[in-house]
Amino acid sequence: MKIAILPGDGIGPEIMAQARRVLDVLDLRFEFEEAAVGGAAYDAHGHPLPEATLALAQAADAVLFGAVGDWKYDMLERALRPEQAILGLRRSLGLFANFRPAICYEQLTHASSLKPELVAGLDILIIRELTGDIYFGQPRGRRTSPDGAFAGAPEAFDTMRYTRPEVERIARVAFEAARKRAKRLTSVDKANVLETSQFWRDAVVAVHADYPDVQLDHMYVDNAAMQLVKEPKRFDVVVTGNMFGDILSDEAAMLTGSIGMLPSASLNASGKGLYEPSHGSAPDIAGKNAANPLATILSAAMMLRYSLDQAEAAARIESAVQHVLASGLRTADIWSAGTTKVGTVEMGDAVVAALGGTTKKAIKS
Ligand code: IPM
Ligand code: MG
Repeated sequence: MKIAILPGDGIGPEIMAQARRVLDVLDLRFEFEEAAVGGAAYDAHGHPLPEATLALAQAADAVLFGAVGDWKYDMLERALRPEQAILGLRRSLGLFANFRPAICYEQLTHASSLKPELVAGLDILIIRELTGDIYFGQPRGRRTSPDGAFAGAPEAFDTMRYTRPEVERIARVAFEAARKRAKRLTSVDKANVLETSQFWRDAVVAVHADYPDVQLDHMYVDNAAMQLVKEPKRFDVVVTGNMFGDILSDEAAMLTGSIGMLPSASLNASGKGLYEPSHGSAPDIAGKNAANPLATILSAAMMLRYSLDQAEAAARIESAVQHVLASGLRTADIWSAGTTKVGTVEMGDAVVAALGGTTKKAIKS
């Protein structure tokens, strides 16, 4: 099994190093190959997603991705910015189904900005369509406004669009996922205003005919944003388009106390996937041994489960993480009074130890 390792920028290399150690301890005969991505790739090769990196991602059985981005690249033209690497990988690998779980760990209930009783036991799965919508819709650009009250003025435009098969396939993924959980699916749209959203809703309703055992409801995105902070536990699985999913998944992540805990998976039609922590590259804490490696470690677990058919190894990692949290160790982002603050490497050590490995390698990394 070949795993492409793309550490990226900021805290990416540090958190990836810990995920690698955890995978090594499992003794599963993986072949790892690392390549540059994001700003690091721009610095080394002049492009955020070099040909060789894309070729490696295409050839591998799964991709483990750290994070990309740094303020210092904000001045580059859009096509060369680090974010283009992740968008290019999604598009080139056809990673249309993005799974973003928001789970509130019992030990971290107090790290949430919401009242503990609202988030205790929270377990939501957001399924975001990842290769369509206004993110990729053409045409887009700048021009002279052809009509309307400001005709003749400079304007910019993007295009929100979805084809019927794109909506149907993500709806199927969501119904299948709901079937394995509490069998409740909420489809989020803006059908009171947008043509694409009414179209989305119609397609989801049609697919529902094949999943009568799943309870489906629809919610406008503004209301969904409100319900997520008012009564988050009402949700089981949420399915939505690329743009709304981007926004709602960050909101849901924060309910759990720290985005530093949340993994994600982006899958294509054949189950191949890219796995990455839900958080970004956090350049402000890069190189300080302060980042939380658990989201990346849990992403590696998702990779084992969804792309590499190693569900048992995935469960071992997840229970090792639970064990480490129960023992009171916390990185700064999830620290609270009465717990022990540790750094990135020490958190990795603890997970490795909980898996029965030795922590000798920590000295090297
Ligand atoms: C995410 C990020 C990306 C997105 C950016 C980095 C392009 O915010 O994965 O949610 O908007 O999809
Ligand atoms: Mg986002």
